[in-house]
Amino acid sequence: MNPTELAKGIYWVGAVDWDVRDFHGYSTNRGTTYNAFLIVDEKVTLFDTVKRSHLGELLRHVSAIIDPAKIDYLVVNHVEMDHSGSLPELMDIIKPEKLFCSPMGQKALLDHFHREDWPYEVVKSGTEVSLGKRTIQFLETRMLHWPDSMFSFIKEDGILFSSDAFGQHYATSERFDDQVPLSEVMEESAKYYANILYLFSPLVKKLLASVAEMNLDIKMIAPDHGIIWRTNQDKILAAYQRWCSGQANEKALVIYDTMWQSTAQMAQSIAGGLEEAGVSTEMLNLRYNHHSDIMTKVLEAKALVVGCPTLNNGLLPRMAGFLTYMKGLKPVGKIGAAFGSFGWSGESVKLLNQALEEAKIELVEEGFRHKYVPGPEVLDECLEMGRRIGATIKEKNAE
Ligand code: FEO
Repeated sequence: MNPTELAKGIYWVGAVDWDVRDFHGYSTNRGTTYNAFLIVDEKVTLFDTVKRSHLGELLRHVSAIIDPAKIDYLVVNHVEMDHSGSLPELMDIIKPEKLFCSPMGQKALLDHFHREDWPYEVVKSGTEVSLGKRTIQFLETRMLHWPDSMFSFIKEDGILFSSDAFGQHYATSERFDDQVPLSEVMEESAKYYANILYLFSPLVKKLLASVAEMNLDIKMIAPDHGIIWRTNQDKILAAYQRWCSGQANEKALVIYDTMWQSTAQMAQSIAGGLEEAGVSTEMLNLRYNHHSDIMTKVLEAKALVVGCPTLNNGLLPRMAGFLTYMKGLKPVGKIGAAFGSFGWSGESVKLLNQALEEAKIELVEEGFRHKYVPGPEVLDECLEMGRRIGATIKEKNAE
């Protein structure tokens, strides 16, 4: 890769990670990028760094523009290691005059790197710093994605360095949204939101409102992962509005695991009932679908119908893991129901109901369980359950 000019004197100098396939449990099938940005002005300023393994790439990109030792300011918009891992080595090379970070950023940097001697310059929402011809306006964005996170807005160019927000794990040789298929970028943006930011939806809502109030003239949104939005900013902003407000389609997911195909047969019949009710339905066998891909689908589905047989008085491990993962991401505005087969004790449906309630998913059925293998009558009951859930989705979406 080469550095890319975003505007006169403003460059992408980050790194592309083509190989990463797991990002703390999130399957990054298309790799990712660690975006860092350089402004060459009276004060040469670097915004964020890269994962430690990619420091060489960052330095090559910076060196193609300017001697890294000439960097005056370093801005840490986010302390998570994918953006700060190379900071200790880079600080020794650059020796910047100032290191800008939020109040929580300073605490997090000290807790990560234990360097009291770095030239911290704490900035808050509204703080402005002149670089010469350009001005940075800072905006704290706590919990998006960590307490330390902040945005840096370059007023004169209308470029928003948005840290994790509006990002995607998407490795490409292109840097801009209009150079790649928009459907791919939106799919990866949805996956990123569902797996990283979903639980902070109320804060995203507030952030979008305060950005609108600030009336910033945003010409480009440059996140720390993936492509830079210079053409479709309205589309990603509208998608964030939709996702943070919990708007859902007339869609159901039948998420299940099975031991000897009894629960799978029940899942098929429930899905058939949902389809008969006119609801778009996806069958998601946990054996073949990664939990982070399922979460992407959860984002815009109304109903989650979960099925699992009983194993040793509990749930199959893939289902237990998925429910734990989903609960942490706090999906908004969903309805749910549970089903499953059993051999003797049969606790799974009760456990599924508990897990759905703990995840604040509204139960619309008491749950359906069946001993051993379902016959035609039982499958008819499952079909009917699917029809009822389908009708409820339609009623809820009409409210
Ligand atoms: Fe890309 Fe929260 O780190």
